[in-house]
Amino acid sequence: MFLALGGLLFLLYLGFMSFISRIPPPLVQPTQGEVWPKPYRQVFLNYYYLVKPQTFRFRVVAQKCELLEKALERYLRIIDKTKISRNLFIKQNDETETKIFLGYLDTLNVYLKEACDNITLPPYSMEEQYILDVTTNKSNTTLSAASIWGIIRGLETFSQLLYPVENEMLRIECTEVIDLPRFPHRGLLVDTARHFIPMIKIYKILDAMSYNKLNVFHWHITDDESFPYQSIKYPELSKKGAFSRILVYSQENVRDIINYAAARGIRVLVEFDTPGHSKSWGKAIPTLLTQCYKLGKLSDELGPIDPTKNSTYTFLENFFEEVATVFPEDYLHIGADEVRYDCWKSNPTIQMFMKNNKLLLHTHLEDYYIQKLLKIVHSLSKKPIVWEEAFVDGMTLPTSTTVQIWKDSALGGWRSTARSATAAGHLVLISACWYLDHLTSGGDWGKFYNCEPLSFLGNQLQTSMVLGGEACMWTEVVNEYNIESRIWPRASATAEKLWSKRDADTYRKATHRLEEHACRMIKRGIKAQPPNSAGFCI
Ligand SMILES: *[C@@H]1O[C@H](CO)[C@@H](O)[C@H](O)[C@H]1NC(C)=O
Ligand SMILES: *[C@@H]1O[C@H](CO)[C@@H](O)[C@H](O)[C@H]1NC(C)=O
Ligand SMILES: *[C@@H]1O[C@H](CO)[C@@H](O)[C@H](O)[C@H]1NC(C)=O
Ligand SMILES: *[C@@H]1O[C@H](CO)[C@@H](O)[C@H](O)[C@H]1NC(C)=O
Repeated sequence: MFLALGGLLFLLYLGFMSFISRIPPPLVQPTQGEVWPKPYRQVFLNYYYLVKPQTFRFRVVAQKCELLEKALERYLRIIDKTKISRNLFIKQNDETETKIFLGYLDTLNVYLKEACDNITLPPYSMEEQYILDVTTNKSNTTLSAASIWGIIRGLETFSQLLYPVENEMLRIECTEVIDLPRFPHRGLLVDTARHFIPMIKIYKILDAMSYNKLNVFHWHITDDESFPYQSIKYPELSKKGAFSRILVYSQENVRDIINYAAARGIRVLVEFDTPGHSKSWGKAIPTLLTQCYKLGKLSDELGPIDPTKNSTYTFLENFFEEVATVFPEDYLHIGADEVRYDCWKSNPTIQMFMKNNKLLLHTHLEDYYIQKLLKIVHSLSKKPIVWEEAFVDGMTLPTSTTVQIWKDSALGGWRSTARSATAAGHLVLISACWYLDHLTSGGDWGKFYNCEPLSFLGNQLQTSMVLGGEACMWTEVVNEYNIESRIWPRASATAEKLWSKRDADTYRKATHRLEEHACRMIKRGIKAQPPNSAGFCI
């Protein structure tokens, strides 16, 4: 009797112990040491190494330069952060180990072929291809690339292959990676006009962009609501148009952002949106904007930029001349979306101008403005990008104008716009599927992941005109406190669609990789939200 009771208690005790020692795994099991976005080609071998972060080093075996040295320093820090301290380590569900341990890997050879001494900024045509060979011959484990940008992408991949195991150690599977992006333009738009986003947050966003191999920071810097860009020629624009005197980006700030981005292989594409979305410009220069009339009487309201005045173009020439030198990027985004015609309609001077210049429709008036602005952009040797309205509403755009597609409401949705814009000879950027401000419940990155940018009806020439796309973070209800978690890891879905091969992975399988990737970003200091469901980061 006592024996039986003792046995029962013992069994209960065992059950209790196994209960407290069995920590449930996250509902979606994260992968270990898998790469996001998925590489073009990767083969795993049946061997692995362990890496001690404290003694691991890169060995530069060919070209070197400051950009490379800085990148290596960054990744040494990241690799060190990847380890998990002894008492926090939780053993993962161990499938039966079949791989063969090859010892400790203490160096990665970095073989950069082209000199990079004189390179400071990533060009539009940056070459991002690299080969990463974690071979069974330890001393021959090599990252190689023709250009510094390829090395930067490859270092990111290498850092993601390392995953924490016991004793503050990392593990890496032997693998061969041959990788290159599907599209050259893989962007993230950040609107700094609806809410001011401080420098420190922009740096964080750029860090996370590099963890996702995104390469264009589309800086929607001004809008109706505020003008935070501190101009050299027109300082009053931000003095009066910013939310406050301190909520501005100084010239030094802009330079810092461009350099910080460049070090990570990211171009900074600035957008100054006109003739609509420009009310904040009128705080300093009211004569730039159209005066609206109400019931035939002059009102206080100011509308879009006044396209009828010569002074408008004198200002734009001077202003964009400055912008062209401050932002060295080849492309300049000039907006041209959502121009409201009611104010132009109400203003008798504008109506008179239209009559005198035989401009029958307000789209013709807008066209008159766009033609003059494009002339300025071309004279500054910049390539223009416009939002789709400029194309859809029939502006006479030269084919050198890239069209960014964002609407999905028109008949046929974004695909029909992509089809017609490429048929008309324009390069296009797709954003319609990737509006990060559009929230749905649950882990809603799947809708971003299931968008195929070339899924429109077009011939091969047309699909070759898709430069890539951008995830867009409009900030009406986003500020410095929620921007990181709103973007990440949702924009990671966009990043993979733009980097990896078509149908590189299924949504279902990618959930596991994204679970690891989100935790990886958190480990690196990015406040990523959980992508899938209940769980935790190890
Ligand atoms: C870099 O530029 C300097 C001066 O313009 C030149 O002397 C040097 O040869 C260049 N280096 C490389 C590696 O192209
Ligand atoms: C390993 O690679 C190094 C450097 O490429 C080479 O010198 C050495 O012969 C290789 N060892 C074996 C066993 O292949
Ligand atoms: C070393 O690696 C390079 C490229 O990764 C390869 O071409 C070469 O055959 C390897 N050599 C040895 C000895 O494994
Ligand atoms: C504006 O410029 C046009 C041509 O550049 C010129 O014909 C016109 O007289 C100018 N208008 C004013 C008010 O200066």
